[in-house]
Amino acid sequence: MIRRRGEAGLAPHVRPHVRRPAQTGVCSAIVSLLPFERFRELWGRAAVAAPPPPADHHAATLATADAAGRPSARVVLVRGVDDEGFVFYTNYTSRKAREVASNPQAALCFHWHWLEEQARVEGLVTRATREESDAYFRSRPRGSQIGAWASQQSQPLASPGELEARVALFEREFEGREVPRPEFWGGFRLVPDRFEFWKAAESRLHDRILFARIDAEWIESRLYP
Ligand SMILES: Cc1cc2nc3c(=O)[nH]c(=O)nc-3n(C[C@H](O)[C@H](O)[C@H](O)COP(=O)(O)O)c2cc1C
Repeated sequence: MIRRRGEAGLAPHVRPHVRRPAQTGVCSAIVSLLPFERFRELWGRAAVAAPPPPADHHAATLATADAAGRPSARVVLVRGVDDEGFVFYTNYTSRKAREVASNPQAALCFHWHWLEEQARVEGLVTRATREESDAYFRSRPRGSQIGAWASQQSQPLASPGELEARVALFEREFEGREVPRPEFWGGFRLVPDRFEFWKAAESRLHDRILFARIDAEWIESRLYP
């Protein structure tokens, strides 16, 4: 159950959190970092406890939907979690990017099976800044940089040879120099207004904690498993 802070009849299990005053702007509506702090702690634990060979604790299922509401989901690697949101990188002409352009609502679902924990986040997706995308692109191995140029992600591919030819084309094009970031490739940031932390428990009586951002506050509540 979600109640606003200060509302009469606040259920005993609902604990509102207000950490700092509201600022202006889309992301600055986040006035409490509590769910972010909780997420980072969990993410860190998932990294440390990942079984060998290291399971990738960055991987998450990204759900988007087109303008008609038809959903689609795929795995992406979440490269960063800052105080505003969750950053992943992709091709700006891919199916996911086209869907986000017409419907910016999206969700990410992380499952760390080695912890028996899941984290879900939902919110609006915006493009990361050019500077962020440039910096991340520069940090990638050269092969991945060439791959970003060669892949027309989500478009039909006539044959594997076509892709190999495009890789060879861009290897020649950028021979002896730094590979620039393609304009059609970069980051997105999902700015959450809802987090849910799920932890497995005995007899499937799992623990579910929801944080919903209402106006400028994160409101915490519990859900039935
Ligand atoms: C473990 C894993 C990590 C992936 N990471 C990314 C990623 O960070 N960015 C990306 O664009 N695709 C990534 N992919 C590929 C996507 O799942 C998907 O196939 C691709 O982005 C095309 O999706 P779309 O056609 O829905 O846009 C990853 C796949 C797997 C299995």
